[in-house]
Amino acid sequence: MKAETTSRRAFLALMSAVGVSGLATDRVVGQERMPTRQIPGTSEYLPVIGLGSSKPVSQIAEKGTGPITDVLRALVANGGSVVDTWPRNPGNDAAFGEVIAEADLRDALFVTTKIDQIGKEAGIEQFRQTQRLYQRETLDLVQVFSLTDLGTQWRNLKDWKSTGAARYIGVTVANEELYVPLERFLKREKPDFVQINYSITERGAEDRMLPLFADLGIAVIVNRPFMNGAYFERLGARPVPGWAAEFGCESWAQFSLKYILPHPAVTCVLTETSSARHMEENARAAFGRLPDDAERKRMTVAIDQV
Ligand SMILES: NC(=O)c1ccc[n+]([C@@H]2O[C@H](COP(=O)([O-])OP(=O)(O)OC[C@H]3O[C@@H](n4cnc5c(N)ncnc54)[C@H](OP(=O)(O)O)[C@@H]3O)[C@@H](O)[C@H]2O)c1
Repeated sequence: MKAETTSRRAFLALMSAVGVSGLATDRVVGQERMPTRQIPGTSEYLPVIGLGSSKPVSQIAEKGTGPITDVLRALVANGGSVVDTWPRNPGNDAAFGEVIAEADLRDALFVTTKIDQIGKEAGIEQFRQTQRLYQRETLDLVQVFSLTDLGTQWRNLKDWKSTGAARYIGVTVANEELYVPLERFLKREKPDFVQINYSITERGAEDRMLPLFADLGIAVIVNRPFMNGAYFERLGARPVPGWAAEFGCESWAQFSLKYILPHPAVTCVLTETSSARHMEENARAAFGRLPDDAERKRMTVAIDQV
């Protein structure tokens, strides 16, 4: 299925046309694939669950590349492709680059990266190092990390897009304090992607920011679905409500993901994990039915009581 327009009304119409979940589901004979969503204004679709790789990449020096390789293979085996990165340590990043250059992963991944430097030359140097260490001339998505030195780095990103070194460009935020500067930026520039924090316990982006991105025809990557783990600490040993099984939810991780995914503005949700088992559990949240509006309301009531 293709959509030619990026307006919010058309986007929402597209979403309702593909069912209450808002997900376009590819099927192959006898086997369901992870649902995908369209990058607005393009004919490209992304699987809806991705990996935030910071934790398993930062653990490479200590644990080797086995865990990150297993996590990436679990992502791909369950139909995912998006892997978000944040280059910081040349040793770990070089080892990670070897992993994503493996024959079975090289063309299976949509690799994103970030620029967190101050100054034009520092940004250029960080990007060149990422290209070298990741063994990729072209990165699928390059993002300005948390709006850092936004004016300067955005010009760098536009240059890389124009030369083909970045297929898509975008910006990230992970807390509400950056929403106002982000809105200001969106009045003058049109990123392909915005990455933003959103979950059942961090719903601040829901009413204004997510609809704004849909209006502007911007793809949305969600971060912090589990508040970097604080979500699980808050829930402790409480059991998942029995009624969540009605929409195929088997764990608290899936509870947050199944809350996020029905939002029509969302393109992909990153879950950070160093566990292949958790990666599979998170990916499986995309399959089966998603909660409808009434069920999502019931989910928020349940969570707000914890
Ligand atoms: N400003 C920015 O650009 C920015 C800021 C924050 C995050 N991000 C991006 O978002 C990604 C996601 O990171 P986050 O901070 O948002 O983390 P998160 O995904 O909200 O939470 C990660 C934590 O949840 C645990 N976890 C994951 N799946 C689980 C499961 N099924 N069951 C139990 N525990 C589970 C992980 O532990 P285990 O390893 O044990 O699974 C980890 O401790 C980051 O990697 C990064 O790519 C970007």
